[in-house]
Amino acid sequence: MPLAETSLAYALHGAAGAVAEVLAGRNLNEVLAGLWRSMPDLPPGQRGAMQDLAYSALRRFGRDDFHLSQLMDKPLRDGPVRGLLLVALSRLAARPEEAHTIVDQAVEAAGALSRGKYKALVNGVLRNFLRRQAELEAAAGQDEVAHWQHPRWWIARLRRAHPDGWQPILEAGNGRPPMTLRVNRRRIAATDYLARLEAAGLAARPLDGGALLLERPVPVERLPGFAEGLCSVQDGGAQRAAQLLDVHDGMRVLDACAAPGGKTAHVLELADVDLLALDADAGRALRVSENLFRLGLLAKVAPADCRELGAWWDGREFDRILADVPCTASGVVRRHPDAKWLRREKDIAQFARTQGEILDALWRVLAPGGKLLYATCSLFPEENGRQVAAFAARQEDCMRLPVAGMPELQLLPNEEHDGFYYALLEKQA
Ligand SMILES: C[S@@+](CC[C@H](N)C(=O)[O-])C[C@H]1O[C@@H](n2cnc3c(N)ncnc32)[C@H](O)[C@@H]1O
Repeated sequence: MPLAETSLAYALHGAAGAVAEVLAGRNLNEVLAGLWRSMPDLPPGQRGAMQDLAYSALRRFGRDDFHLSQLMDKPLRDGPVRGLLLVALSRLAARPEEAHTIVDQAVEAAGALSRGKYKALVNGVLRNFLRRQAELEAAAGQDEVAHWQHPRWWIARLRRAHPDGWQPILEAGNGRPPMTLRVNRRRIAATDYLARLEAAGLAARPLDGGALLLERPVPVERLPGFAEGLCSVQDGGAQRAAQLLDVHDGMRVLDACAAPGGKTAHVLELADVDLLALDADAGRALRVSENLFRLGLLAKVAPADCRELGAWWDGREFDRILADVPCTASGVVRRHPDAKWLRREKDIAQFARTQGEILDALWRVLAPGGKLLYATCSLFPEENGRQVAAFAARQEDCMRLPVAGMPELQLLPNEEHDGFYYALLEKQA
């Protein structure tokens, strides 16, 4: 019998498939986008439930995979059934009071996978987990990956890079991200928008720098005037970029890695500048144009690899360059929990190489006296401080400027913002 569309079993089944695809190497956003396309009539509530289940299971993967290793003699080869067990275990952790319903619904979901041949196994594993929970949790507490819910190499690197703060970083990475707004000051003052939020029953408070932190995340459709461009969703740490870039009316600005355009739009909200936004991914570059259109802002947007100057540069130098480079995204894993498990340690060196190439290329198009803001959402020094120090050492005309009164700004993820890194470089005239 097919699963009822409104049931928990249906949501567990959908999320299990998504988790299995991620564990097979696919990106969670792409997997979910494909799932929504294949289920156009899925009620919004069920979509939210599936998404939440998949995210939670991936945040906890290190722990629940450990539990499975204790509960099963050999690893389960069937990806979706393994996904189902992981999703069910994470739901048991979140809603212990609903344990029996969760197990029943997971068994029902198992009936719709692999012709139902794993129903008894799913039932047995989950009931066994509930029986042995205290003992299993104690064992998980002794296993580093299970305890911190991050890969072992990742934990080791954070411990080395942030000896005084690696535990809160890992804890933040396992939590739910805050939802923060950027008010489009070209359309409404932040205080007026705060009043609009209050009138809509949405509690929020301003952070340093003007971002508005919502007490609770909501779908964007509930934000007053979102479609009309009164605000954007953007992390408070990300909102530092445009402010640090120090833009003024009339400047020529390059946003070299722009998609989906959050920082591009912010720059344009702050000053009347002539802005070129590039992104190597043509599909993502389109999203920059869509975002600017919603906000009533104008820029030239082009799909291009910013390292290939011959393909896009017209020979005129820029006063300001934002290099928000591709990185491991280790500062935003709570928003992309798949990244923890998909990344490999050797990716850091690969990202660092690309970042170095991007910096070298962009330096050539920066005007003397101009400033380049280097940004990542990473917490690994190879992509941040070490990258910038190596660059400054090989460019004689590079002077490092203070960022928020410090040589560089490394924001660590917390309840107000994600993890970000900023360094500001000036080209000597
Ligand atoms: C961290 S994201 C940028 C986020 C964006 N600045 C924002 O605030 O919305 C990095 C972007 O760089 C793009 N990218 C990667 N390599 C690139 C390259 N060589 N040239 C231009 N864009 C690149 C990726 O497609 C991705 O969209």
